[in-house]
Amino acid sequence: MNYTLAGIPIKNYLVASSSPLTESVERLICCKEAHFSAAILKSCANYKRIGRGYGRKIVYVKNGYYADASFENEILTLNEGIELFQNAHSLIRDDMLLIPSVSALSLEAKEWINSCKQFEKLGAKVIQLDFFYLGTLKHNDEFYQSLKILLSTLKKHLDCMVMPKLNLKFEPNKICKTLKDSGISYVSLLDSIRENPDKKYNLHPDNTSYFGPKQLPLTLEYLKAAKKHGLFVCAGGGIAKREDVEVLIQNGADMIQVASYVLNRGYSFTKDLLPDTVDYDFHNPILKHNPWCDSQRPGDCDHCGACAPHILP
Ligand SMILES: Cc1cc2nc3c(=O)[nH]c(=O)nc-3n(C[C@H](O)[C@H](O)[C@H](O)COP(=O)(O)O)c2cc1C
Repeated sequence: MNYTLAGIPIKNYLVASSSPLTESVERLICCKEAHFSAAILKSCANYKRIGRGYGRKIVYVKNGYYADASFENEILTLNEGIELFQNAHSLIRDDMLLIPSVSALSLEAKEWINSCKQFEKLGAKVIQLDFFYLGTLKHNDEFYQSLKILLSTLKKHLDCMVMPKLNLKFEPNKICKTLKDSGISYVSLLDSIRENPDKKYNLHPDNTSYFGPKQLPLTLEYLKAAKKHGLFVCAGGGIAKREDVEVLIQNGADMIQVASYVLNRGYSFTKDLLPDTVDYDFHNPILKHNPWCDSQRPGDCDHCGACAPHILP
């Protein structure tokens, strides 16, 4: 089977989702060694970081986990995103497709175009548009109309492909129709579930998301809506076993993206999700790298909780 993304031949269907897996050059090299065919870089936005907010905190629960972090901690600045793309590109070249992920806090076309143009100039062929932080806007008819104007404007000003990332704020059919009517062909799904966790976990309700198998039925719902509108879908969210990959492919997913399955187990576990034909080197030391961070010494540890013992969902 031959796979292409935005006309670029790639080696298989497995894409690393924008997440800690793709947050540094070291971890992007791990993604390449783990046979991902493409990696969506950690999202960046054109903003000035004032202070560091509060750090990432991970709490494992019975059937998944919560992740909490402030915007300043979770979103790279545009310069950091550009540096990550350039440095990774100079080492990885054509061995894995690098897809920058751009975010912004408004539907103002200027904001999105300026960031996307910079990546396009550096050779990006596909850019993910991370709409997560538009969540505070009311998703009424006016919103979908403004989104259509934004996407049509982006299409007009950019040569590269843009791939909006959907989240649960969007009504599946309305958003997929809006994408199609704006001339968009690619869509990335699905972001996490915003949840108000139990107070005992001491997390910030406004910035906490749930990750786990509860997401998969929602991913399927958005996938079906996207295929109904003829979109190319890079689908993921809630994958907990190989059969979940098969279900998404049977329902029309063109590519499969994954974060938590690998974050919770390690890079070498991509082998569970890849076609059996992939030639895997299980002794490759690079695959032992921590998927959550690059700290080597105990003194560098942020104590985010990701390495705490947990039961896999
Ligand atoms: C700690 C963490 C940070 C994330 N940051 C981003 C991000 O910056 N941009 C983005 O588009 N998605 C981000 N995601 C969401 C993932 O890309 C993905 O949509 C989500 O984890 C669901 O897929 P999964 O079930 O395979 O984990 C993040 C996920 C986690 C766990």
